[in-house]
Amino acid sequence: MPDKETTKIYNAEHTETDSRVPMIEVRNLCKRFGDTEVLKNVSFTIYKGETCVLIGASGGGKTTILKCLIGALKSDSGEIRIGGHDITKLKQSQLNEVRKKFGVLFQSAALFNSMNVKDNIALPIRYHTDLPEKTIDALVKTKLELVELRNVEELYPAQLSGGMKKRVGLARAIALDPEIIFFDEPTAGLDPIVANVIDELIIDFTRKLKITSLIITHDMQSAFKIADKIIMLAEGKVIKIGTPSEFKKSNNPLILQFIASQIKKDTARRERDSSRFIDPVA
Ligand SMILES: Nc1ncnc2c1ncn2[C@@H]1O[C@H](COP(=O)(O)OP(=O)(O)OP(=O)(O)O)[C@@H](O)[C@H]1O
Ligand SMILES: [Mg+2]
Repeated sequence: MPDKETTKIYNAEHTETDSRVPMIEVRNLCKRFGDTEVLKNVSFTIYKGETCVLIGASGGGKTTILKCLIGALKSDSGEIRIGGHDITKLKQSQLNEVRKKFGVLFQSAALFNSMNVKDNIALPIRYHTDLPEKTIDALVKTKLELVELRNVEELYPAQLSGGMKKRVGLARAIALDPEIIFFDEPTAGLDPIVANVIDELIIDFTRKLKITSLIITHDMQSAFKIADKIIMLAEGKVIKIGTPSEFKKSNNPLILQFIASQIKKDTARRERDSSRFIDPVA
């Protein structure tokens, strides 16, 4: 049975349901590792075209949710409906079909160091389609343009900056024109200026391509900027689902404390990063 809080969120969301089409529906998702209960009756809905940001303390289960959603981890119980199909009940071959709709970017960008940029981006295209090389070349070029990179096809990951690697990771995540994207910390480890550019790119192409997205981030400024809706997780439960302005107005001490501590960390990081550019001689 869903707990009181989850039921409240579920009902609150569904009483206001209008013509929006649910794209991702998670109901009472539970997952434990050994004795540790990581996800406890997690429920939420993401509608078609929505940019949804998942926040919460480190170790709180965000990546675990994402892995369950893409079928990389098996949940213990609960439903995960993607485009109406409960993926927890699909056979591997059926799951692979649903996965074609997904674009995934993990925190590390996870590029293959032995492959150049073109081959990294072409990887999912070659895996899922039989398109001729010429078409693949054109597709790779278009995706690189979307992330504002040019003439980098022949470069290897070691020759790219951190921000460029993220962009190539983004280009690969959208290679197959996904309906849904799942990003885990797309701006982590980037300096604030580059992080800002990546945020703008995400806003730009999710809107342009009408992609439904679930993005995990620690960066509250980024969350407030890109989210249509924010889901906050604490101790394995959803404690609030709301718009950025609803989060900013919240009086819940858990939420206030989390946002304040994240902003403090972000500010310290931004100051540390900008001090690197001060010329000591000047
Ligand atoms: N494969 C696994 N085996 C055992 N425990 C795991 C596994 N994956 C995650 N955990 C545990 O589950 C909990 C949640 O981990 P998860 O990676 O989902 O957190 P997170 O919210 O993404 O944290 P962070 O913000 O640091 O990335 C942690 O206690 C972690 O140690
Ligand atoms: Mg994580």
